[in-house]
Amino acid sequence: MTDFAVRQAVAEDLDQIDALFGGAMMFESSVDELGRSMFEPERALVATDGDEFVGTTRALTRDLSVPGAVVPAAHVTGVGVRATHRRRGLMSALISRQLREVPEAIAVLWASEPGIYGRFGYGAAAFGTSYEIDLHRVGPPSSSGAVQQVAIDNVTKELAELLRKLQERRPGISGRTELQWKGRLEDNPEHRAGRSARHVLVHRDEQGTVDGYAFWRGKMNWGPTGPANEVYVEELVAPEPDAYRALWQHLLTLDLAATLNFGYAAVDEPLQQLVTTPTALARRVKESLWVRVTDVARALGQRRYSVAVDLVLDLTDDVIPANAGRFRLTADSETVHCERTEDAADLSLSVNELGSVYLGGRGLAEFAATGRVVEHTPGSLALATAAFRWPVAPVSIEVF
Ligand SMILES: CC(C)(COP(=O)(O)OP(=O)(O)OC[C@H]1O[C@@H](n2cnc3c(N)ncnc32)[C@H](O)[C@@H]1OP(=O)(O)O)[C@@H](O)C(=O)NCCC(=O)NCCS
Repeated sequence: MTDFAVRQAVAEDLDQIDALFGGAMMFESSVDELGRSMFEPERALVATDGDEFVGTTRALTRDLSVPGAVVPAAHVTGVGVRATHRRRGLMSALISRQLREVPEAIAVLWASEPGIYGRFGYGAAAFGTSYEIDLHRVGPPSSSGAVQQVAIDNVTKELAELLRKLQERRPGISGRTELQWKGRLEDNPEHRAGRSARHVLVHRDEQGTVDGYAFWRGKMNWGPTGPANEVYVEELVAPEPDAYRALWQHLLTLDLAATLNFGYAAVDEPLQQLVTTPTALARRVKESLWVRVTDVARALGQRRYSVAVDLVLDLTDDVIPANAGRFRLTADSETVHCERTEDAADLSLSVNELGSVYLGGRGLAEFAATGRVVEHTPGSLALATAAFRWPVAPVSIEVF
């Protein structure tokens, strides 16, 4: 169906784009000053039917930690099609064009509908875990470290520094510009859903430098046997063990609280080792970041590998033909090269599997088990699996 046109957005389109996306997601749209200043019209696409806005998608300019590096990644968000125009190919037209045009070598997103994105070459690359912790059973870590509650304005620079440090340690973490930090820290009372204002906790090292922080909110609740307050941890960044332990110890022992909810734990979240009863974390695993490799040679050349490799990968890509064909990947602890080759392939796969293993959280061998990766040279699957895997599991700590 071609009764619609797709074009790049301009700044004046923001209100209509937001209303369209809000309508598709069923929330009340309202763009404030900050939202306006964060809008990147040159990175948004709109589909129109006459004068009417009927579809949209956009990308945010942010960086992302990947194995051994922090690289630019198109952060895709705001995908929506007017309900009256669904299933006529609008989303397909928008997403395909977006993927062909993004300047970054990878695009990433959180999927509200995980069934959608595989067809466009995205692969689920990071799994996140949500906790609904039974505070009476979990057995919190012991810690002698003190934490302080502070006003956010006094520590924003230190927090930004800690987020950068976390990016060096763990793949899947999105960087924030000053403006994006402002967006993250907005605390509109209308969006609190009965929870308290945001509390900011910090831990300091022996020199007094902030080496960990947590954002949390509380909600009063009264159960049949007495107080059963709820704690909601929104973000906890503490690359150093003392800070990590002290912040969690504080949060898991708050008076009157019965449950603690945390939606952004990694699959290998260290908290699991620190409590006496990990079962009381009530872990639920789900897809977190989806990755789409948009430029194979560049994407493979900008991350690092766990062991040395010299392999030829034969790729298929239905949306970006320039990605299809054979690429030789050579890497050791110092250097990485990836370029086109005519040599015979060691492994065949599609761009979906490449996206799935790009952050180091999944193994190519997993996909060989279902035939999605095919090994031509004995031993190459085990080698490639080990090379792409990373010692620390990827996770995204915020929905964008
Ligand atoms: C989801 C949405 C963007 C799809 O837009 P659309 O223009 O109807 O999509 P298309 O017509 O291009 O569909 C392309 C394909 O995706 C499939 N698809 C569409 N929506 C899907 C969904 N929610 N789950 C799984 N598959 C879906 C279609 O069936 C079609 O498959 P086919 O090619 O095999 O027939 C639109 O329905 C919408 O805005 N929904 C509400 C908001 C939303 O869910 N946004 C996405 C958040 S991640």
